[in-house]
Amino acid sequence: MCGIVGFTGKDQAVPFLLQGLQALEYRGYDSAGVEVLSPDGELHGVKCSGRVATLAERCRTANLVGTTGIAHTRWATHGAPTDRNAHPHLDCSGRIAIVHNGIIENFQELRAYLARTGHTLASDTDSECIAHLVEDAWAGPAKGDLVEAVRNACQRLQGSWGLAVVCADAPGEVVVARKGSPLVVASTPDGAYAASDVTPLAPVTSHVITLDDDQYARLLPDGSVTVYDADGAVVDHPGTLDIDWDASAATLGGYPDFMAKEIAEQPEAIERLLKNRLGEHGIELDELSMTDADLAAIDRIYMVACGTSYHVGLIARAIVEEWAKVPVVCEFASELNYKEPLVTPHTLCVIITQSGETADTLTAARRMRGMGCKVFAITNVLGSTAARESDGTMYVQAGPEICVCSTKAYTAQMVAAVLLALRLAYANGSMRLEEVQQHYRNLCTLPDLIREVLKRSWQDQQAAKLFRNAQSSLFLGRGVNSTTAAEGALKLKEISYLHAEAYAAGEMKHGPIALLEPGFPVVAIVPADHVHDKTVSNIQEVIARGATCIAVATDGDEEVAKLCQNVLWIPEVPEEDFVPIVAIVHLQTLARYVARSRGCDVDKPRNLAKSVTVE
Ligand code: AGP
Repeated sequence: MCGIVGFTGKDQAVPFLLQGLQALEYRGYDSAGVEVLSPDGELHGVKCSGRVATLAERCRTANLVGTTGIAHTRWATHGAPTDRNAHPHLDCSGRIAIVHNGIIENFQELRAYLARTGHTLASDTDSECIAHLVEDAWAGPAKGDLVEAVRNACQRLQGSWGLAVVCADAPGEVVVARKGSPLVVASTPDGAYAASDVTPLAPVTSHVITLDDDQYARLLPDGSVTVYDADGAVVDHPGTLDIDWDASAATLGGYPDFMAKEIAEQPEAIERLLKNRLGEHGIELDELSMTDADLAAIDRIYMVACGTSYHVGLIARAIVEEWAKVPVVCEFASELNYKEPLVTPHTLCVIITQSGETADTLTAARRMRGMGCKVFAITNVLGSTAARESDGTMYVQAGPEICVCSTKAYTAQMVAAVLLALRLAYANGSMRLEEVQQHYRNLCTLPDLIREVLKRSWQDQQAAKLFRNAQSSLFLGRGVNSTTAAEGALKLKEISYLHAEAYAAGEMKHGPIALLEPGFPVVAIVPADHVHDKTVSNIQEVIARGATCIAVATDGDEEVAKLCQNVLWIPEVPEEDFVPIVAIVHLQTLARYVARSRGCDVDKPRNLAKSVTVE
């Protein structure tokens, strides 16, 4: 949701803090702020509504000097995205500053208590309470120890937090705390760093310390980091993580936006994921941490996810049921959390989450675990909470996904789910080794097929023009491609703000057909598959009503070429079930062109955040 960074060291803090915020801006971009401890012994800061670029501009004129500081980029939960609600927040004395990611659930009670005890609160946020609670603790039980003051304050909080604190009376120190919101720290010869995730740290180190819930850390200018547990005792061996992301992976590298870059990175991401996966006994998936016997015993699977990752779950459901003959329930995490799942002693829960930090998904996973399920995570972000809390984790290795709308993680997650299906199907005897090998070989053709689609982006650019005067649009597909339609519609909505509805093509006549009128754009996914002719009939129905049909069709499909004004061609895909992995690339690119033609910021769509860490 929000992104936080902290630094203390030899160099000026502001350059790293701003660069760190830029790397974390995908987490929220309503407002941003920075606070440094200056040589005059005072805290000085700048904060404002708007983007990190606006903050950077203000910092240039404010000339903030200091080698210890914290910073924040916000996705508003409590309080409008205004200057005064931007973080950092200060205590009454102005000598303690905090930045917070998460939600303080008992903030109303705390604000009332703080007002009663003489504190003046300057914002409408839940987070500001923390600064005042640290102020009380600093002056009282903590006896001038900043870790103790933060620990004491956190004991009064309910909710979630990733927190960084500086205090003018504890020069050089940055203290951080974690509960329910991610936080990593790093110790380097040049200083110590903290951030909401590894992305800002990749340029300065390849090794980070991952904090667990209820842990605290003291960062000092000599680069040392000491981690403390909930009782304030030093943790001798905190969790660590090696970052194998190249720092340049989080930069634009010549592309106009991250969405363009991430769409283009899909072939390589899938190649990385598929590398060395086929062994003597089928698919190598050691990450599952389950024996063949355990896998063979699985009698039900829950696929749990949100948004785009949920679409992966829908496609995975079809493939797992078809190949492994195991019933799969695919649920939105936010729905499952209020249902009673039917769990047996052999139910597997698969959570799919790019960020590994989506609150609804984590809550569902914890609940399923509590019911005795093994939880397997398919995720992209190293060391994410999903990875740390699951029984097994498959990293999809797509590299940092900065654009808020998910593209390369989506296709990589689908490939990961296919590998899982193959592993299961072989382990439970539903598939022979030769079949597994053939599916794997087919999977390995996907990167080149996607490369081919990428070369045809001019087709998407042309088709985008058909949305120029549209107020709404309809996406249609059958079978696994009804999900391709849903994902294509989601992409369009989230980055172009143009309404898009997705429907199983055969259902159109039961309602959405009423939307059609001349010029209304309809995107129909109609590859060469067993339902091709049925979908062609639906296209006929669209055209008969004067609507504009944009088809996604397989090379050589003369029938579709004759019917539709525009066709986004895909090369022949060796398996019907793999078409979604190829076809979606056109729809991602189409959405991007439509959004750009409407002047939208494709990387940072309004109201959205990359990882939704609130329920
Ligand atoms: C993707 O384009 C969306 N921004 C969003 O739906 C996302 O997929 C969803 O919030 C789930 O995120 P996760 O995969 O990180 O859990």
